[in-house]
Formats: sequence, structure tokens, C-alpha cells
Amino acid sequence: MTEDDTRALLVALAASLFARGFSVGSAGNISVRLPDGFLITPTNSSLGHLQPARLSRLDDGFHHVAGDKPSKEVFMHRAFYAARPECGAVVHLHSTMATAVGCLPDVNPDNPIPPLTPYFVMRVGRRMPVLRYYRPGDPAMEPAIAAAAREARAVLLANHGPVVSGRTLTDAVYAAEELEEAAKLFLLLRGADARLLSPAQVEDLLSTFG
Ligand code: 13P
Repeated sequence: MTEDDTRALLVALAASLFARGFSVGSAGNISVRLPDGFLITPTNSSLGHLQPARLSRLDDGFHHVAGDKPSKEVFMHRAFYAARPECGAVVHLHSTMATAVGCLPDVNPDNPIPPLTPYFVMRVGRRMPVLRYYRPGDPAMEPAIAAAAREARAVLLANHGPVVSGRTLTDAVYAAEELEEAAKLFLLLRGADARLLSPAQVEDLLSTFG
């Protein structure tokens, strides 16, 4: 894929997320790895109205080299790239259901959303921890995210929203969408005696689909 193709794909996926309500206003940011650096959405931009040529271009060291001023959450994305060598893209959203789960004080902080459906397990993995609240743009979250990301493809920032990684941009977006749907199911089923996937079924999914 050329850089122009990657820019066009990022803009199209972001617009699709925005159109379907996964992001509102200027919330959320998306980054993708290039052979010689990264693209990230500009700060204060709407995911619904990005322009390919204005995406922020970062070098290998995450320094801004072209395009509009980058998201203030660059270090949130950097934490995932540093912790997960296979990571090719990162999506941060304030999607409603996942953020709602991150506002509940009584969930299991190590893994609040249980394995209800196969696609949540296949896309997000066996575990997604909740990290404590940090002010948006607070660099103190970088080491906390990096530590958690060594063991998890996604984290949920308390009272803020999910951060999801993937091998590719499409993988990361699909995982963020599955996470939002799983959070919705979790909230719908709160208090019900829902049947979960068994540990053996979870391991079967992970060994079959990676
Ligand atoms: P940016 O506009 O700087 O990307 O920040 C948006 C956001 O989602 C903060 O968490």
C-alpha cells in the first residue's frame, strides 16, 4: 500500500466511524505506522471531516515533520507501538458504551468485559484492562499504557474511552467496533445470568484465529 492509499483509507475509516456515531465532535484519534514513520489525526479535528493531505506526519521518533499539528495523545499511541512490535495502527475513541463501562466503579479492572461473543475475543483478545483516569493529553498515561499493552491489545481509560491496537488500520478499527458492541452487550446483560464462552472456547478462538 502506498502512503497515499494509507491516507485515503484512514480518512475513509474515520468518516465511517463518525457517520455511525462511534465518535462525535472532535473526539478520538487514529494513527497508522508507515515504513518510515507514522500518520496521526490532527488535534481538534473531527474524524468525520479529515483531509488526506492534512494528516499529521511523524518520523520514526514520533516528531512532527509535516501536516497539521498532531493529536495531543501522540504518546498514548506511542505507548502501543513501543509495547507491541506487531502493532501497525491505534484507534482511540470516546465511544459511548465502552466509555460507560469505564465509568463503572464496580467492574473487574483487570478485565471488565467478559467473553460473551467470539468476535470480541478474536478482535480484542482475552483481556482488556481498565487504567485509572488521566486528563486527556496527560503524558503520565504513557508508561501505564505501555505496561498494560505488553499483555493486552486494548485498554480502557477510566472515564475517558478505549485505546485499541491492531496489526493493520482495518484490524484496529474492526477491534474498536467489536469492543463497543461487546460493551453494549455487557451493559444490556448486567444483572442477568448470561452464559459466557468457556475458557476452552476462548482458547480455541485464540489458537484458531490468532
Ligand atoms: P485530539 O483532538 O488532540 O486528538 O484529542 C481528542 C481526544 O480524543 C482526546 O482524548
